[in-house]
Amino acid sequence: MNETVEMIIDGKPLVLPTVTGSEGEVGIDISSLRNKTGCITLDPAYGNTGACESAVTFIDGELGILRYRGYDIAELAEKSTFIETSYLIIYGELPTRAQLTEFSNLLSENQMLHEGMRFHFEGFPSTAHPMAILSSMINAASSYHPNIISKREERFPYHAARLISQVRTIAAFSYRKAHGLPAIYPKSNLKYTANFLHMMFSLPNEDCELKPEIVKALDLIFLLHADHEQNCSTSTVRMVASSKANLFASAAAGVCALWGPLHGGANQAVLEMLEEIHQEGDDGSKFLNEVKNKIGNRKLMGFGHRVYKNFDPRAVIIKNQCDKVLAQLHKSDPLLDIAKKLEEIALNDDYFISRKLYPNVDFYSGIIMRAIGIPLDMFTVMFAIGRMPGWIANYKEVMEDPDGRIARPRQIYTGPTQRSYAALETR
Ligand code: CMC
Repeated sequence: MNETVEMIIDGKPLVLPTVTGSEGEVGIDISSLRNKTGCITLDPAYGNTGACESAVTFIDGELGILRYRGYDIAELAEKSTFIETSYLIIYGELPTRAQLTEFSNLLSENQMLHEGMRFHFEGFPSTAHPMAILSSMINAASSYHPNIISKREERFPYHAARLISQVRTIAAFSYRKAHGLPAIYPKSNLKYTANFLHMMFSLPNEDCELKPEIVKALDLIFLLHADHEQNCSTSTVRMVASSKANLFASAAAGVCALWGPLHGGANQAVLEMLEEIHQEGDDGSKFLNEVKNKIGNRKLMGFGHRVYKNFDPRAVIIKNQCDKVLAQLHKSDPLLDIAKKLEEIALNDDYFISRKLYPNVDFYSGIIMRAIGIPLDMFTVMFAIGRMPGWIANYKEVMEDPDGRIARPRQIYTGPTQRSYAALETR
């Protein structure tokens, strides 16, 4: 495409520059549009709007491609680990052995929470959703390290490591709190994902068994969620960061955005949907009829994606992993059978085919987590742990952008035009 595009606005020609990405994607740079024409663009839900240039993640939704820093997701899933991939996502290159050791050491050094944080956990009612606890506690954690708030740049590697490490400790503590169990502290000899499972499931007097296949499956779930370009929560993180808020405040906002059932909360919603179908004795067909006829505005949770219009490459990997984990644990799950049936019907049904709706990452991840013993209300927390490196990398890009400005969308006002105040007795 040309380096400029010409358009006619209100009868007058306008030349705008284009920006071409490294994978050939072209954006029309409209940053001068309002100055030149007095008009703005209107793109609710941003389906046609690039909010930034980013070098972290590439997605081709038509071809089902997902790459972190140029590396294909399937290759990373097969050969890498969540921690190595986190380094890649944040710093742009796969680490050398020395860099990986340094990064792992930083994570271990920062895994303990300040003892004062225990009192914050105490303040939550037992009914608190772990995502509410997680976002509050990430913000609370920054209060114990004032240099996070002062954002001295040379401290970034420490803050990033502290966040990745502590989010896992906070998540495990919130589970223990909700279930009336004593907190279990991390062990320095355990790697990231094994340590998380230890903090979740060990007892003060007995360590839980850490089956390698379970550790691997959860590590894979974290890795598959590690970044996904400008989705709702990452855009939130960038938006908050653009005001120069600190890393922890930006990530806490990301957790809140992720919580909704149309985004990260879908993994919990999928399992709730499967349980409901199971309890009603339906094989999925009745439920799908309701979805297709938009009865009760129901959706097939775990299906569809704003960007993927062919298949979600993460879903393919996770489905295979799901079969593997259940076989290794010698478990069968009636909900998996329902999920497979729903998938089979939906993939052959014109409603879903014509709208290009395919299973997304959340369709099968919940079944693995359930098999591992992660409780339902912790599913989205698992997503948040996994997404942390992506949020951090995007935060870093915002902070390092020399031309960065505070994000401030405009609007088309549709409210009343000017009117005069009427006294109360005359209304
Ligand atoms: N079940 C039934 N119908 C659907 C679904 C679904 N899961 N998703 C979209 N549609 C229909 C929608 O009703 C609309 O139909 P119509 O043309 O008749 O009005 C059409 O498909 C287009 O949908 P849309 O709402 O314009 O799609 P969107 O791009 O705005 O929304 C989505 C994307 C992911 C929010 C949506 O597909 C959805 O709600 N899916 C279920 C929730 C879910 O699984 N979310 C997890 C997304 S992946 C994890 C992540 O990265 O967040």
